[in-house]
Amino acid sequence: MLFSPLSIGPLSISNRVVISPMCQYSADDGCMNDWHLQHAMQMAMSGAGMFVFEATAVERRGRITHNCVGLYSDQNENAMRRVLNAALSVATNDLKFAIQLGHAGRKASHNVPWLGGRALSKAQDAWLTSAPSSIPFTQDSPLPEELDKDEMQQIIKNFVSATKRAVRLGFSAIEFHGAHGYLIHEFISPISNKRKDEYGGKLDNRMKFPLEILTEVRKVVPQHIALGMRITGTDWREDGLSVKDAQRVAQILEENGLDYLCISSGGITTGLNIPVGPGYQVYLAAAVKETVSIPVRAVGLITSPTQANDIIVKGDADMVALARAFLSNPRWVWDASIDLQHTIKVPQQYERAYTIQK
Ligand SMILES: Cc1cc2nc3c(=O)[nH]c(=O)nc-3n(C[C@H](O)[C@H](O)[C@H](O)COP(=O)(O)O)c2cc1C
Repeated sequence: MLFSPLSIGPLSISNRVVISPMCQYSADDGCMNDWHLQHAMQMAMSGAGMFVFEATAVERRGRITHNCVGLYSDQNENAMRRVLNAALSVATNDLKFAIQLGHAGRKASHNVPWLGGRALSKAQDAWLTSAPSSIPFTQDSPLPEELDKDEMQQIIKNFVSATKRAVRLGFSAIEFHGAHGYLIHEFISPISNKRKDEYGGKLDNRMKFPLEILTEVRKVVPQHIALGMRITGTDWREDGLSVKDAQRVAQILEENGLDYLCISSGGITTGLNIPVGPGYQVYLAAAVKETVSIPVRAVGLITSPTQANDIIVKGDADMVALARAFLSNPRWVWDASIDLQHTIKVPQQYERAYTIQK
């Protein structure tokens, strides 16, 4: 049930509700600031089981926008420490903090969504993007350079360095962004990976670079920290990754030591015909869950407590991640706990607001 605890590798979370990673596009050269502080403080007392900090770039050019968060400098690390420590100090319900680490690949160097989200111009300080193959995301996107092996080694080093920073900061879980068309997904998907070397071709080859990252990162992650990845359940295109591929990717990741998976979809290209509706990606999580034994998270238009609870009760997924629902109602879990008749811990200063509803 939604309010039952779950073991994720070395971790235990108090319920199955996860706050999905959400870019705030508000950082200063990768540094979190007061906006992130208030965001994290709200989420800290949400009553959720886990809160995943937004996609965080492992190198400067791996940011989607000028305002994305990074962990590529001491300044970034110190800024995040302020936010995380403050949130930890008020967290309720044994909330576990995770961070999503990633690299935007060919989707880097874009404007923030509220400025249209298009590729940056020279005047806007665009930068050279990189990808498995020199294929732009859209016709308007910058042409990425095809990464050579030295550059790939450097990216691995940057993943390791950002991971060390995340470990030092005290996160309970580290999650790779392997979905939504960013670098790791770009390697796995045949749509964006047309390499002729051992990193391209069949699925096992396309998985090689993500696995190299994982292997090196695993070496610097202590046993008490869980390691996960968000992957794509389908590319929604004939010539892209299928649900069957996602099952195989999940198996490979489990064999290589991941503690959990989140199944999302889309983002590898534009113009996709995605049947967006309530819980539209849950079947993808259910398909993956059939083939692995590590916990699997579902995400995507999960908005009501009964819907979320049903997903867990039916066994389609072990946890659910909600994104927009938490922006509109940071107390979503409080309300869900009342609906589903389960008591959670809320800050004592606010207890009277919680009990008045019961
Ligand atoms: C403002 C915003 C920022 C997002 N940033 C990220 C991100 O950093 N990493 C990620 O994997 N997904 C990101 N997403 C996708 C969400 O995590 C989630 O998968 C998606 O919104 C579907 O869930 P929902 O229907 O509950 O919102 C973002 C979504 C929103 C609305």
